[in-house]
Amino acid sequence: MPIQRVGVMGAGTMGNGIAHVFARCGYDVVLCDVEQRFLDRGLETIGKNLDREVAKNKISVADKAAALGRITPVLDRARLADCELIIEAATEKFEIKAEIFRDLDRLMKPEVILASNTSSISITKIGALTKRPDKVIGMHFFNPVPVMKLVEVIRGMATSQTTYETVRDLAVKLEKTPVEVNDAPGFVSNRVLMPLLNEAMYAVMEGVATPQAVDEVFKLGMAHPMGPLTLADFIGLDVCLDIMRVLQDGLGDPKYRPCPLLIKMVDAGWLGRKSGRGFYSYP
Ligand code: 3HC
Repeated sequence: MPIQRVGVMGAGTMGNGIAHVFARCGYDVVLCDVEQRFLDRGLETIGKNLDREVAKNKISVADKAAALGRITPVLDRARLADCELIIEAATEKFEIKAEIFRDLDRLMKPEVILASNTSSISITKIGALTKRPDKVIGMHFFNPVPVMKLVEVIRGMATSQTTYETVRDLAVKLEKTPVEVNDAPGFVSNRVLMPLLNEAMYAVMEGVATPQAVDEVFKLGMAHPMGPLTLADFIGLDVCLDIMRVLQDGLGDPKYRPCPLLIKMVDAGWLGRKSGRGFYSYP
């Protein structure tokens, strides 16, 4: 089935970035969230990020208007029914994703592909909740979605070759580079990235260095665009903790134990950039 109309579940950081990229590349997008204020905030962010692209002469003012015009915000999931592909970008909790996938499986035509932007949760497990595990796949984008080139394409145990090829080709049409990965906790990206960020947090907790010093080491010594603690604040400390817990539960090795400082900061509501405070302050 050719894909022209795409549903995105969740208008948060990743969801609005995914909607942005599809709409900019000419796809019709139905953007769904549970509250109007989340949709409003998502659309406002897409508008601001398209403005950056206008300012850099990557797109014209008319392209911006056309992209925004292709996005339909909805609260009712039933309005996703005429989409050919759905990408779920909800909170990184299995129970939340499970409810969404069961419902989408009921609402959507059997030929529709259901993709998840999960950072770490098993695609095989999500697929098994549906009657179409062959059409369930991971399509993992990176933040900021309009900028980062990678799409990690994750095959669940039952994902069909046709589903894989459809999503791989779609990523190319979005001017991204798909990389094929098999299903395992954290896939490749977060299995390797999160222990790095977690270890940087241990270094701070144990007084080895300040967050600034740790970040300087990685920026100047390893040419990372952001140091690990700036990146953790950017991703969201709650998201980092959720992913560490998936690695710990799924792989069982003590090396994936979330740093106690990370747990404490999340308990305090210090979630990074989005809450105004994390390893740094964002007034
Ligand atoms: N939308 C559109 N364009 C954006 C943007 C956005 N949200 N954010 C930045 N840009 C553009 C800018 O306009 C600029 O464009 P130009 O190259 O044409 O000038 C370019 O991106 C660079 O931005 P800035 O000049 O403002 O700032 P920096 O040079 O400091 O780059 C950054 C910002 C791209 C975020 C860079 O710091 C970076 O690459 N950081 C690392 C990000 C990263 O590692 N992301 C992955 C996180 S892990 C993840 O998402 C997986 C999940 O599962 C946890």
